[in-house]
Amino acid sequence: MVVSSATIDSLLKEKEEYPPPKSFRKDAWIHDPKVPREAAADPERYWADRAKELVWIKKWSKVLEWKAPFAKWFVGGQINVSQNCLDRHLDSPRRNKAAIVWEGEPGDRRVLTYQMVWREVNRFANVLKRLGVKRGDRVTIYLPAIPELPIAMLACARIGAIHSVIFAGFSAKAIQDRAEDCHSEVIITADGGYRRGNVVPLKKTVDEAVEDLPFVRHVVVYQRTKEPVSMKKGRDVWWHEAISDVDDFCEPVPMAATDPLFVLYTSGTTGRPKGVLHSTGGYLVGAATTHRLIFDVKDRDLYWCTADIGWVTGHTYIVYGPLANGATSFLYEGAPDWPQPDRFWSIIESYGVTILYTAPTAIRAFMRWGDEWPKKHDLSTLRLLGTVGEPINPEAWRWYHKTIGGGRCPIVDTWWQTETGMILLTPLPGLTTLKPGSATHPFPGIAAEVVDENGRPVPVNKGGYLVISKPWPAMLMTLYNDPERYQQVYWSQVPGKYFTGDGARVDEDGCFWLMGRIDDVLNVAGHRIGTMEVESALVSHPSVAEAAVVGKPHALKGQSLVAYVVLKGGAARSESLSQELRDHVRKEIGAIAVPDDIYVTEKLPKTRSGKIMRRVIRSLVSGQEIGDTTTLEDPGAVEEVRKWLAEVETGGA
Ligand code: WTA
Repeated sequence: MVVSSATIDSLLKEKEEYPPPKSFRKDAWIHDPKVPREAAADPERYWADRAKELVWIKKWSKVLEWKAPFAKWFVGGQINVSQNCLDRHLDSPRRNKAAIVWEGEPGDRRVLTYQMVWREVNRFANVLKRLGVKRGDRVTIYLPAIPELPIAMLACARIGAIHSVIFAGFSAKAIQDRAEDCHSEVIITADGGYRRGNVVPLKKTVDEAVEDLPFVRHVVVYQRTKEPVSMKKGRDVWWHEAISDVDDFCEPVPMAATDPLFVLYTSGTTGRPKGVLHSTGGYLVGAATTHRLIFDVKDRDLYWCTADIGWVTGHTYIVYGPLANGATSFLYEGAPDWPQPDRFWSIIESYGVTILYTAPTAIRAFMRWGDEWPKKHDLSTLRLLGTVGEPINPEAWRWYHKTIGGGRCPIVDTWWQTETGMILLTPLPGLTTLKPGSATHPFPGIAAEVVDENGRPVPVNKGGYLVISKPWPAMLMTLYNDPERYQQVYWSQVPGKYFTGDGARVDEDGCFWLMGRIDDVLNVAGHRIGTMEVESALVSHPSVAEAAVVGKPHALKGQSLVAYVVLKGGAARSESLSQELRDHVRKEIGAIAVPDDIYVTEKLPKTRSGKIMRRVIRSLVSGQEIGDTTTLEDPGAVEEVRKWLAEVETGGA
C-alpha cells in the first residue's frame, strides 16, 4: 500500500449540526456524557459491567488477556449464545413477544414469538446432531432471508458448531471456495428464494458447488418455493422431514467465551476471501451492548435492519444483538423496489416499524425513485434511523432525515467492519450532536485514532489511517486457519494497533469523518469487494491474459467496477466476449462483482518493476488528485497512464 496521508484529505467540510431532540434524550438509554467518559477511563470495567447483563454458565476469571495481536475476552467464562438469545427470555413476559416478524417477497407473513423460535431452534439443533454435527464442526448456511436462517444459526450456536453463512447472491464457485476453506461437511439451503419476482434456484447452485466437494456429507433443504429440485439419496435431507420426529429440547452446550461462534468470509486485497473468525462471549457482549445502546432499543420497538443476514450487519444487528436484547427484529426477504419502489415504506406503515437501519446506497436509490413513494405512506411510527456500509453523503443524510424521519428522528451513522463484529464509531442518539456525513465518536470503551504511515497521530482535520488502539470485545479472533495473514493484514502496518484499511480525519470537535478504503477493497452498493478477487475471476477465463480492476464513483452504488483486460494471443475483442466475461465473473463470484465497464486493451500500464499501476489508474478513473507518493514513484507514470486511458476508453488501444 502506497498512499500518503496527504492524498486523502477530506473534501467534506460540513458545518450543520443536529443536537438530540429533547424528547428523545429524555428516555434514551444513554443521555449522560459521563458514560463515555467513565468507559474511556476503564474500558475493561465498562465491558465487564456489560457482560454481567448476559447469562453466564460460568463467570469469567479474567476480563481481557491481551497478547498482541490475539485478544481473549472473558477468559475462563462459559456461555451459550442461543441460551442468551432465547431461553432466558422464556421466564419473562417476553416469552410470548414477537422475536421475528417476517415478510416474504410475495407478501406472505410470519410472526414467531420467542417461545416459537426457541422450540424451532431446539428441534433443528437435534436434527444437526442426528446428522453427526459436533461441537467445533463447521456448517455452511446458504439460505434466503427467511426465519429458518436465524433458526439455523442459533441451532449451530446451541450445539457449539461454527456457522459460515454465505450470502444467497454468491455463486457455486464462491460456496465451493468457502466450504473448502473451512471444511464444512454439512450445508443448509432451500429449494429457492424470491428476488424481484423471480425464483433464485439455491439448491441447484449448491448442487453445483458440492460436485467437487467429496467431504460434504449432508445438504439440508428447506422447502420455500416448492419448485422441483433434485435430491441426492443418502446426502440430501428435507428440513421438514428431518424435523418432524426429533425431540423438542436440546441442551445448550456450555461454550468457552473464547470458543469460536462463527466464521464469515469477507473480501481482502488478495484473490482469496478471508475467513473472519468471531468469538462466543466477547462477540455477544459487543453485539448486545451496541445494539441496545446505539439503537436505543426498548420493548415496544419494532426494529428493522434491512441488511442481508449473509453480511456481518445481518449477523450482529438482525440476529444476535436484537435477540440477546429480547427485541423484535423485522426480517424482509426481497428487494426494496418490488413490486414497486415503496415496498419499504409500505412495510413501515403496515407493521409500525420504529427503528430503521439501512445503507446509504439504498437511500440514494430511494432519493432517485422520488419523494412520491415515501409520501404515500404514514411513516410517523419511526423514531430513530441508522446507516452503515459506506460514508453517507450529506445530501442523502438530509433527505433521509427530512423525508423519511420527518425531521424528528436522530440518525446514527455507524462505522464498523466484518472484522470488528460490532459498531465502533457512532453517535449515541440521546447524547451526540450529529453532523451529516460524520460517524462522530468512538463507542464508549473504544479507542480510535487517525495516524500517519509511521503510526503518529495526525493534526486536527488532516487525513490519515484509522486505527483502533485497544482491543474490544467483538474483535475478530483471527482468520480461519491463517494466523499469519491475520497478523500481516491487521497488525503489521502500525505495530500494536488494529489497522482498519480506512482513511479518516478527526475534526476540531473530535468527530470522525470516514474517507473510504485506502487499499484495493471497494464498496459497491454496500457490498465489500476486493478488486483482486474480480481480477482473479477474469484471468481464470481462457481468453484473458491479464486484468486490472479499479473503482469509479457511481451516483447510486457509491462505487462501480471498471475492468481493463488484456486478451491472450488470438482472442478477438467482441461484444459477445464482453458478455461472456460478465457471465464468467457472475459464475465465479456472483452478480455483485460483475464490472459495469469492461475495456479490452493491448497492454496494462506497469511500473519498471512490472507491477500494474492500479493506484494511478484508479486515481485517474475516479477523477481524484494524484497523491505525491505515486508521482514520486515515477514522474512520467501519470502522463503515461492518462494517455493509455484515453486510448483504451475510446477503443483505440
Ligand atoms: C465501510 C460492514 C463510512 C468501511 C459493516 C469499512 C463505512 C467497510 C461505514 C466494512 C460508515 C462501513 N461510514 N464507511 N458508517 N460503515 N464502512 O466488512 O470502508 O462489509 O472498512 O462491514 O465498509 O465493510 P464490511
